[in-house]
Amino acid sequence: MDSPFGLLAELTYRCPLACSYCSNPLNLADYTDELATVEWRRVLAEAAELGVLQCHLSGGEPLLRRDLVEIVAQAHELGLYTNLVTSALGLSRPRAEQLRAAGLDHVQISVQADEPAVSDRIAGTPSFGRKIEAMGVVKELGWPLTVNVVLHRQNIDRVADVLDLAEQVGADRVELANTQYYGWALRNRAALLPSRDQLDAAEVVVRAARERLRDRMDVLYVLPDYYSRYPKPCMGGWASRQLTVTPNGDVLPCPAAQSLPLPRASVREDSLARIWAEAPVMTAFRGTDWMPDPCRGCDRRELDFGGCRCQAFQLTGDAARTDPVCHLSPDHDLVARVVETANADSRTDLPLLPRPHRAGRARS
Ligand code: SF4
Ligand code: FES
Repeated sequence: MDSPFGLLAELTYRCPLACSYCSNPLNLADYTDELATVEWRRVLAEAAELGVLQCHLSGGEPLLRRDLVEIVAQAHELGLYTNLVTSALGLSRPRAEQLRAAGLDHVQISVQADEPAVSDRIAGTPSFGRKIEAMGVVKELGWPLTVNVVLHRQNIDRVADVLDLAEQVGADRVELANTQYYGWALRNRAALLPSRDQLDAAEVVVRAARERLRDRMDVLYVLPDYYSRYPKPCMGGWASRQLTVTPNGDVLPCPAAQSLPLPRASVREDSLARIWAEAPVMTAFRGTDWMPDPCRGCDRRELDFGGCRCQAFQLTGDAARTDPVCHLSPDHDLVARVVETANADSRTDLPLLPRPHRAGRARS
């Protein structure tokens, strides 16, 4: 068992946006009893002790935590590299200056498209203008800036303009991440999954941009796994290098694992070290012993770890099956049929079910 390298600290599921591709859980009301500042301080100290080097402060919208500066300062004091993953709503200049002084290392801002009306429609909230303003503040204060754009059927045709926007705002890195189908995104899958033609066209644009921007901006492009022959090596293997702490203190090997029928483990009841080493939620799929056929005898089992446990559970009802994305999976038809439907439909404006803004009352 290795030490975890990265901690995803989901500080709150409250959010001013209502993105239809959100991967937060559907039962947001179960996460309203948020950890208090003192509990997060303990989680961070235990994470550093356990070997964590990077801390991603995420949500929901982490800026809704009034104690965010304090949390960042604590992480910084512990020597963790801190990354704020934000919609940027609430990132005023004074707040940004406080976070800078507290030692925040990196800022990642999401934008839903290059064009205000499209971006605001997908975000479910007028927000584009404030995001661009906040990107300016981030650059002025000297932070490295990642612009994150979740791609799907309704915005992927604009990928050239999205790249232009990232260049204009001076992003150091742009992350073009095709939607992963968990939470609200799974509910909206028919309206979000792009066609093969859309993906092929986007790939040509991305490849040319990578070449053109080689010295100025990193261009990261995450393919939709539904179109891949093999599944993604989700989280680099179950409970291998990453852990997630949810707003109410549950500890998970990935942000989507709360949907799996595994016993809960909480920082309110146990130490992070013991949970990492012994809790069933961590040990259930660690390594390769749990694997069924065809993974068990496959020479890729140490490369992709049988794919994603959460996806296997969502699509088959059994988290211990081979990820149906894999063309060798006996359940691959479940994915092939969805892809076939996506390719038979050319509409790019199917109605989207928004994720609710609020996840209940605030603790801090
Ligand atoms: Fe990966 Fe399992 Fe498919 Fe082999 S059979 S490629 S290990 S998912
Ligand atoms: Fe949970 Fe892939 S998202 S294992």
